[in-house]
Amino acid sequence: MSITRVLTFSFSGIDPVPVEVQVQMTRGLPAFVIVGLADKAVTESRERVRAALISMGIALPPKRILVNLSPADIVKEGTHYDLPIALGILSAMDILPQEELMHYAALGELSLDGAIGAVNGVISAAIGAASEERGLICPHSQGSEALLGGDIDILAPSSLSSLLQHFTGKQILSKPEFSELSPPEKGPDLSEVKGMEGAKRALEIAAAGGHSMLMIGPPGAGKSMLAARLASLLPDLTPHQSLAVTRIYSSAGLLPNSTPIIRPPFRTPHHSASQVAITGGGVKVKPGEISLAHHGVLFLDEFPEFARNALESLRQPLETGNISIARATSHITYPAHFQLIAAMNPCRCGYLGDTERECHRVPKCKEEYTRKISGPLLDRIDLITNIEPIAPKDIVNVASGETSEVVAQRVKLAREKQLSRQQLLNNEINVNHITLDQSVAEMVEKASLQLRLSARGITRLLRVARTIADLALKEKIDIPSVAEALTFRQR
Ligand SMILES: Nc1ncnc2c1ncn2[C@@H]1O[C@H](COP(=O)(O)OP(=O)(O)OP(=O)(O)O)[C@@H](O)[C@H]1O
Ligand SMILES: [Mg+2]
Repeated sequence: MSITRVLTFSFSGIDPVPVEVQVQMTRGLPAFVIVGLADKAVTESRERVRAALISMGIALPPKRILVNLSPADIVKEGTHYDLPIALGILSAMDILPQEELMHYAALGELSLDGAIGAVNGVISAAIGAASEERGLICPHSQGSEALLGGDIDILAPSSLSSLLQHFTGKQILSKPEFSELSPPEKGPDLSEVKGMEGAKRALEIAAAGGHSMLMIGPPGAGKSMLAARLASLLPDLTPHQSLAVTRIYSSAGLLPNSTPIIRPPFRTPHHSASQVAITGGGVKVKPGEISLAHHGVLFLDEFPEFARNALESLRQPLETGNISIARATSHITYPAHFQLIAAMNPCRCGYLGDTERECHRVPKCKEEYTRKISGPLLDRIDLITNIEPIAPKDIVNVASGETSEVVAQRVKLAREKQLSRQQLLNNEINVNHITLDQSVAEMVEKASLQLRLSARGITRLLRVARTIADLALKEKIDIPSVAEALTFRQR
């Protein structure tokens, strides 16, 4: 009894796991069964496959059709198994030659009329196909997306019948092409922020060293405005980073025009977002906001308003650069190497320190408000900066400051220095990477005793000092660099 086999993939996070679709047709009571830990979307595949074949004038033979998704011990989710199942059946019916299918992996969703619809994870599937030394059959609309995964033979048919015509030599499919890159959108510019030199300086340091930052200031001080301009200070992603980020968006089904993402992502989840929305997971596992912010910025506005468990779940990824999600039978890991930028008011009423406007509950109101942010989380933030609102008269009188382009150039130079010295940005270096002169070391020691900094706090202080020195193109961390870094640790 012959068995036909078609290669496809399941996904563990963004990693492709090869799955073989095995089809066996035997005599017996007519039946169509799918086994191999298939979820509901996969078992429903039977009906779509049956309808798609009927639309092509092909009726399933009155036999017992058994489809096994192997290995049978990993859960199969999603609709992309439709196409490989249909191909396996067509091959078992001798309509498609098995030898042709041996050269490809396949994924795609079938609609009732036999059209092949878009699915998530095409780039990762192409990478998987390349490592299995095969080509890839994927939906027509995602041909250019598959190209991003590797230099392999790609067939992107719009329907099952056009694929059949290709394999029978009636009408050969044309090769997909890279879609044209549209110029990245220019976000808001830093020059629109008047005055606020201290805050802008903090933003520049954060951009240069990839440091996490918390901005504290009264309502309307310009915190959200500043954060939105951080993206414009960051350099383009490297090709390696771009592929990593694009894969995540592809696996989340968030890559509508099949072009690679080349600018660092900037994600701004609302404070009502659930922990699952932030970290990823759920019944059908999806990457969360922290993974969608991979190699980019996660901006949490109104920081203390986020659910406590959502905030606490940031601690592990902030250290490791990835997030591990526990499932019933396995763990799934998504990359989540992001720069955390947070903003908050100093207290619930927002006017702490403003003698005219602060509420009568000071200072209790501050304590209650900030208590939602735990010490260990604050300890992971490199820069804590107080945002002083610009005086009303200055909003009109002060001239516009530097443009994002000018600041981005300094950030670029500082980043180049870091990468050539240690292959990492300063937010990731450890104390071994940092050498200090005697006098500077003494100053750090004294300050850390005074401020009661933890070991992690000292490391973070030195990382920021290193970035400040890099922005000034200094080889060594000097006393002024440490002094400025210290201003971002006091609370
Ligand atoms: N330095 C500034 N230069 C120009 N406009 C400013 C400046 N500061 C504030 N504004 C104006 O005030 C508006 C409010 O600023 P923004 O929303 O950033 O405040 P916020 O600190 O985030 O306040 P909240 O705590 O209420 O969220 C901005 O959209 C902008 O129009
Ligand atoms: Mg705001």
